[in-house]
Amino acid sequence: MPGKKTPGKKTLEKKTPAKKPSPYLLLTNIGQLLTMRGGPLPRRGRALQEIGLVEDAAVLCSGGRIVDAGPQGHVLRDPWLQKHRGQVREYDCRRKVVVPGLIDSHTHPVFAAPRLLDFEKRTAGASYQEIAESGGGIRSSVAAVRAANREQLGRMVLKAFNAMLQQGTTTVEAKSGYGLTLNDELKSLEAIHDAAGRWPGTVVPTLLAAHVVPAEFAGQGDEYIRLVCNKIIPAAARRKLAAFVDVFCEHGIFTVEQSEKVFAAARRHHLGTRAHVCQFTPSGLGPLLQHQPASFDHMDCAASADITLMARSETVATLLPGANYFLGHSDFPNARRLIDAGVPVALATDYNPGTSPSPSMPFVISLACTHMKMTPAEAIAAATVNAACALNLQRSKGSLEPGKDADFAVFDFDDYREMGYWFAWDRCTEVFVAGNAVLGSDAS
Ligand code: NIG
Ligand code: FE
Repeated sequence: MPGKKTPGKKTLEKKTPAKKPSPYLLLTNIGQLLTMRGGPLPRRGRALQEIGLVEDAAVLCSGGRIVDAGPQGHVLRDPWLQKHRGQVREYDCRRKVVVPGLIDSHTHPVFAAPRLLDFEKRTAGASYQEIAESGGGIRSSVAAVRAANREQLGRMVLKAFNAMLQQGTTTVEAKSGYGLTLNDELKSLEAIHDAAGRWPGTVVPTLLAAHVVPAEFAGQGDEYIRLVCNKIIPAAARRKLAAFVDVFCEHGIFTVEQSEKVFAAARRHHLGTRAHVCQFTPSGLGPLLQHQPASFDHMDCAASADITLMARSETVATLLPGANYFLGHSDFPNARRLIDAGVPVALATDYNPGTSPSPSMPFVISLACTHMKMTPAEAIAAATVNAACALNLQRSKGSLEPGKDADFAVFDFDDYREMGYWFAWDRCTEVFVAGNAVLGSDAS
């Protein structure tokens, strides 16, 4: 019979002590397993509710991949397992909740310092846009990134990745965007690669040289876009430093026409595309959608016509309520309108020094439930399967089914709905990546 759960971290029991990680892993005694299996990819409309819930479950993994995930009685009858159980590293999950490793599909971790001056100005009533127009905002993170070396930035990025892992994140998208010169953008991407090499999870690097027009190009946005398209994107592609190219398409930042040029250059260099859109003001998304971006992010002010267009496309809407929370907005992205229209919705932290300095996907899931009226099931699907689609990783990540990567997060809950219920309370107790314990008492 199931054992009694003990609270706090590091509660997994190791049944088979092993010095080296075994190629075989068996998670047993799972109270609730969210396989996220079964629905179409990406999940739209009512299908976003499908979480493939199994009670009293187990998961068998081999060589970093899942072999079977389902009712414990069924998994334990596996003929191979019955013969070779002695070779299998076994973990008792003590009735807790196991979900696919969370996927944070939008972060900006390459910065050198928090933006406390901007923060204080906002507490005195200034808005994000007012601060940006008076020389603060994104530009005020640039000088410190330019002054920092690759090693210093790499350490900052790794610290952020480790904080994310503590909260159950095993895959993260990471953008440059505070360098804004050829060398400083490449240095930022190299810092992401250095941190990725020292972190057990999966990192998807994105070039965001088109984050803002840097001060030395003031009034010459088109000139800067030419530099991005003709020099920075080709160099990042040549050196294989980025999987995606992003652009901040927003009134006063970059226009739709400039953003299209960035997308076209990305595609010429065989890189994927994604964009920050409609964060503060609406912009017509049709021309950008023709480039089949993997994701449009923020989407707070998206127009109905654009939502209809998106519902007919494969582009995921990645909602970032941490930014609304931190900027003190009373409005949040209208998830219901998007979901009901058939747009695939994902959730991410937007971890960055200006609008969302939080590494916590569970907090984002809680915000989605409390401020965006997403159900806990929808919010978890948006943070796993649909987030995998937003990174084109749906073949290997986002759900627990045979052949997919053995990435899991274990939460000290009796019921998965607690993920949206407790907030500012870290309840993730163990994390596994590719079948290895990377957080919890078994992590080496
Ligand atoms: O996603 N909107 C653009 N980029 C970030 C903010 C970056 C910053 O303020 O440093 C965002 O909210
Ligand atoms: Fe962002």
